[in-house]
Amino acid sequence: MGFKVAIDGPSGVGKSTLAKGLAARFGFLHLDTGAMYRACGLYLIGLGAAFSDNAAAVEALRGMDIRVELGADGQRVFINERDFTPVLRTPDGDHASSAAGKVRAIREELVARQRAIAAGRDVVLDGRDIGTVVLPDAEVKLFLTAGAGIRAARRAAENAAKGIASDPAETLSEIERRDYADTHRAHSPLAKAADAVEIDTSAMSADEVLAAAAAIIEEKRGG
Ligand code: DC
Repeated sequence: MGFKVAIDGPSGVGKSTLAKGLAARFGFLHLDTGAMYRACGLYLIGLGAAFSDNAAAVEALRGMDIRVELGADGQRVFINERDFTPVLRTPDGDHASSAAGKVRAIREELVARQRAIAAGRDVVLDGRDIGTVVLPDAEVKLFLTAGAGIRAARRAAENAAKGIASDPAETLSEIERRDYADTHRAHSPLAKAADAVEIDTSAMSADEVLAAAAAIIEEKRGG
């Protein structure tokens, strides 16, 4: 069966950081589902496919073979054997994933892949619809929140640590734009599952969030 942990929440709230920490601590596999939307969107844009139309997306997806490798050194996403990993976390990847995430046929295809990867394993998945759609029976569901200003400041600090300059106003407006797109799309919008535990991370460090989430998992596993 496997023990399943679902992590959802808005952009920049620290879902991937938490998922990686939990995977290392409990020996779970970690699947970053956002990376699949990023790769799929970039692939379809590269084809020149008019995929915002569901019928066109169904057609374009026929030739797409997406493969996710979950290794010790992180996750890699391949489409038709091209490795998209280096280009996923770019402004083009942000844009492509938002566009791809709106299309029903794309969501159905990727959700089916995500369920197949998770089947029978101990896993932690992070995304927007994990607790509500992908793994409705997950043993633990976490929903992370933090104010948009706080998430923008964290993103700017992350960029600064990597030596990338970013404009604070632009970073905030990009976060607000993605919040709006994620919560207002017609198919599987970002939402907290009724049985998810909400963690407001606004005043917490990454280590504190990890400790709080680990305690929830330990209680569930022990009980
Ligand atoms: O988690 P991320 O920032 O890499 O996600 C990129 C985009 O992909 C996000 O803006 C919406 C979409 N997405 C989604 O619709 N459903 C998911 N489970 C994960 C991501």
